[in-house]
Amino acid sequence: MSSKQLVCLNEYEKEALAILDRNSSSYYQSGANDEQTLHDNINDFKRFRLRPRMLTDVSEVRLETTILGERISMPICIAPTASQRMAHPLGEIANARAAEAMNTCFVLSTIATTSARELSEHVPNSLRWYQLYITRDRAITQKMVKRAEVYGFKALVLTVDTPTFGTRYSDTRIKFKVPQHLRMANFDGIPSMESGMANNSGGSGLNFFSDTFFDPSVTWKDVAWLKSITALPVVAKGILTGEDAERAIEAGVDAIIVSNHGARQLDGVFSTIIALPEVVAQVRGRVEVYLDGGVRKGTDVLKALSLGARAVFIGRPALYGLAVGGEQGVTDILSILKKELKLAMQLSGETDVQKLRKGLVIHESMMTRL
Ligand code: FNR
Repeated sequence: MSSKQLVCLNEYEKEALAILDRNSSSYYQSGANDEQTLHDNINDFKRFRLRPRMLTDVSEVRLETTILGERISMPICIAPTASQRMAHPLGEIANARAAEAMNTCFVLSTIATTSARELSEHVPNSLRWYQLYITRDRAITQKMVKRAEVYGFKALVLTVDTPTFGTRYSDTRIKFKVPQHLRMANFDGIPSMESGMANNSGGSGLNFFSDTFFDPSVTWKDVAWLKSITALPVVAKGILTGEDAERAIEAGVDAIIVSNHGARQLDGVFSTIIALPEVVAQVRGRVEVYLDGGVRKGTDVLKALSLGARAVFIGRPALYGLAVGGEQGVTDILSILKKELKLAMQLSGETDVQKLRKGLVIHESMMTRL
């Protein structure tokens, strides 16, 4: 089916899951354990309702904004996801090209199937950030940070919710593996990591890898250390509470992503849209706050922005766009979300993503005042 016939992100998801093999669809789709939080990430957006205002002149709508000082055409960016070449032969390159075409930001995963160097060669002018896991051997982390700097990445996105990988039943059941012809490209030239990947067998492949190399003893002190070895801004990805937002700020982070890793880590945590207001209230504008998890519609974006996120990131929808139509598929996904956001703003009486009115969104539990 041509990607042009698909009209919303949910249709891309269905189409992609029909195209992908079981190994890839299981890995992309799954959430941790009983997938309670996976379900909540999507459904809790529906619990927030919009309170539109009429006749406000919405003939001009501004979607442009900035993240860490970088201009983007809309507050919708692409989250880091591993192994994108399982979705399309050009994987991360196609995804980053789509982000560039739409004038927005792409985040490369540490466990990507395209290296930081390759990405910088193929998409040299893109706005790109580098997602980082801290390794037991800090020299390896340091090497990755250096590469991110050399290859033109504008920020480090430190994932703080992954001392070890969560359990995803379907990946365990099917013994998920990164296919033989793909590689964890950011570990090129780091022999211990390359051989670790070769040894990976049984269970869910990436869990073996993460348990061996990623460091479960990481604390906020390591964030301060990270800040000390780089001039790049550091974004903490995976914050769900006000307390941790405060710790992150004390450790010197430059921004926070409210995220539960697409519900792939601790099942039973709050959805990100529910967690967002507490974090925003604690941060009080000291650093930028973004959100990812369950964003599938323009109204989801508007709700997140209205509750204090400066921008949102999408993970799975970009993978599904890749599977359906490569670079064009991701461009279509981003275009649909952009159009939907613009329309949602017009129909709500809003004209600028940076100046949304307070009270635009209300949780439905607050509506039964009669
Ligand atoms: C992820 N995510 C993720 N996060 C991260 O920091 N490093 C990574 O390598 C990955 N890999 C990854 C793979 C897959 C298949 C998924 C679905 C997710 C989490 C990702 O960055 C983001 O937090 C979520 O995907 C956001 O939720 P949605 O948009 O998928 O609902």
